[in-house]
Parts: sequence; structure tokens; C-alpha cells
Amino acid sequence: MLLDTYGRIATDLRVSLTDRCNLRCTYCMPEEGLQWLAKPDLLTDDEIVRLVRIAVTLLGVEEVRFTGGEPLLRPGLVGIVERCAALEPRPRLSLTTNGIGLERTAGALRGAGLDRVNVSLDTLDPQVFARMTRRKRHADVLRGLAAAREAGLAPVKVNAVLMPGLNDTEAPDLLAWAVENGYELRFIEQMPLDAQHGWRREGMITAGDVLASLRTRFTLTPEDEGSRGSAPAERWLVDGGPHRVGVIASVTRPFCRTCDRTRLTADGQVRTCLFAREETDLRGALRSGAGDEEIAGLWKAAMLGKKAGSGLDDPAFLQPDRPMSAIGG
Ligand code: GTP
Ligand code: 5AD
Ligand code: SF4
Repeated sequence: MLLDTYGRIATDLRVSLTDRCNLRCTYCMPEEGLQWLAKPDLLTDDEIVRLVRIAVTLLGVEEVRFTGGEPLLRPGLVGIVERCAALEPRPRLSLTTNGIGLERTAGALRGAGLDRVNVSLDTLDPQVFARMTRRKRHADVLRGLAAAREAGLAPVKVNAVLMPGLNDTEAPDLLAWAVENGYELRFIEQMPLDAQHGWRREGMITAGDVLASLRTRFTLTPEDEGSRGSAPAERWLVDGGPHRVGVIASVTRPFCRTCDRTRLTADGQVRTCLFAREETDLRGALRSGAGDEEIAGLWKAAMLGKKAGSGLDDPAFLQPDRPMSAIGG
């Protein structure tokens, strides 16, 4: 198993399939995009499936989430899902996407064995969407969400980041819309993971701000303490339930003590935390002929370097050298 020195066990693997994206969210990357990884540096589909197999069969990983960049841009995605779904024991499989193109692929992904999706959507206003993502693709995301729901990828979760002066007044409208459409909405606190290093703690919308704003229109009742497990989201019942809303308060209410994650970047580096500064090169090991047990050993050793927390509250905090789109969200 993937045990760290604080007694946490990583059973949840997040795999970034590409660092590229077809949006340019202002809290993530600049207008011109980033220096993308070169094709030969990316893990191949076979290499990804092999690492997932090692994680599942030798290291106790139970859930695999595919992320990006934008994972739907990876041509082999459906095949990767299908091969991962055939592993024994079968891991739970999920995807975090911006929803563009999901309209076309949701059915195939479900057929391949994907269990659920989380889709990012920060606003109900197409113009605000265009300002926040620098692309006019709002309608594509809405259609992608509907297709995911129709394909039975349940529950469909929606991730929203609130940005001051852009969409910070929209929380209640977003929740009313999510309830009406049967999506589980979560608000995410903005984190210092943007390529431009533009994050400022003073400017960010906190979980407290979001909850106060939601309570102007809804009654929120905290979900049972015991039901959270290691999930990043704290959840509330909306107007008595059954609908729920979540808040992922990575900055103001960190959940590192119960973290059960390990990460693999698109170029085959293990990262033990979103905010880790160290990487362990599994691609190099794969390509120099290492066996499964040897790779599992390298992965286990990497986890021993996992820190207690993100370090965000440390005055000496340094943002990781790669942005979130390259680490995997
Ligand atoms: P489920 O609750 O299982 O559906 O997934 P999730 O919320 O973990 O996945 P998702 O990819 O939707 O992530 C949503 C957000 O959770 C990310 O953007 C991060 O803000 C946050 N998050 C996920 N993993 C971590 C983590 O290891 N550390 C921190 N601080 N935040 C994380
Ligand atoms: N802070 C918080 N959330 C972010 N996301 C991307 N960049 C950041 C950031 N700097 C969100 C995306 C997506 C999820 C994986 O992470 O909107 O929903
Ligand atoms: Fe793309 Fe996600 Fe970054 Fe937005 S947050 S630019 S959708 S990788």
C-alpha cells in the first residue's frame, strides 16, 4: 500500500492525461497558453494503463480519476478507461473535465466503464464565461453536462471557482440551477496554482463568504460528520435535502490530515500532493525496463516524502514549480 509517514494511506490516484486545454481560465493559465509537454515526454496509453495496473494490483489504489489539463483532449481516453475498467480488482473510475466535447463522448465513456464525472462551470452567464475562460464555449459545457446526466454518469458534480468582480455574486443562482438540473454543485476556493502567480489570499472568495451568500436564499444543514471520509468537499443539505451543496476549502479549512491521494503527471512523475515540490520519475523507470515490483517500490518510497500539509499557512510558502494544469487538478 501507499503509506506515508503520517499514517495516511493513498487509495485514490489522480492521473493527468495531458497538460493541454482548450480553455484559458484566468485563475489557471495565461491567454497565450503554456509551454506544452512534447509528445515523446507524455506517457503512452500503454504506459498509463500499466502504471494504473501496478497501482491497483500492487499498491491498493481503489479509485482512479483522470484529469488534465483537459482530459477529453487525449485521443485514447475511451480506450484507457476501458482497459482500466477491466483490471482486477476493478477500480472506481471518474473524470474531471471542462465539459467541452463531453456531449459527443459521454455515452462512449459510460460504455467503457467510467463511473462518474465532475465538470467545471463557474457561471450561468455566457458573457461572464467568455471573460473567465477567454473562450465562447458556455453552451458546449451545458450540453456536455446534460449528456453526462443522460448517459448515467451519476452523480454529475459541478465545480465552480468564484472570482471577485467576475462571478462572486452568482453562488445562489448557480445553486438554484444545479438543484433544478440534478447536478451536485461544489464551490472551490481559489488556490495558488496558476501559471501567472496571480493568487492573493486577501482577494480570494472564502468558503465562509460562499456559505453566507448561499444562506441568503437557502437553508443549509451540515451533512453527518461521519459521511465525509477523506473527501475534499464539506457538504450541506439544501433546504432539508435530498439535494446537497459542497465547499472545497483548501485554503481556509484544509483537509490534509485525511488526504488519501497520490498523483501521476502526464509525463509520468509521481507527486504526493498538489503542492509538493518533489517528483519521482516513473516514466524513466518504465522506459529503462524496470519490472512491476521495482516501479511499485519507487512509488511507495515517493509517498514517504509526502508532507503533513500544503504549507499554505507557512510564511515561507512557495508555489509549486508547475501549474495545476500540468500537475493534474
Ligand atoms: P470527488 O469528491 O471524489 O468527486 O472528487 P474531487 O472533488 O476530489 O475531484 P475534483 O477533480 O473535482 O477536484 C475538485 C477540487 O478539489 C480540485 O480542484 C481541488 O481544488 C480540490 N482537490 C482535489 N484534490 C486535492 C488535494 O489533494 N488537495 C487539495 N488541497 N485540494 C484538492
Ligand atoms: N484554484 C482552485 N481551483 C482551480 N481549478 C483550476 N485552477 C484552480 C485554482 N487555481 C479547478 C478547476 C476544476 C478543478 C479540477 O480545479 O476549475 O474544476
Ligand atoms: Fe483548462 Fe481546467 Fe485550467 Fe480551466 S482550470 S484552463 S479548464 S485546465
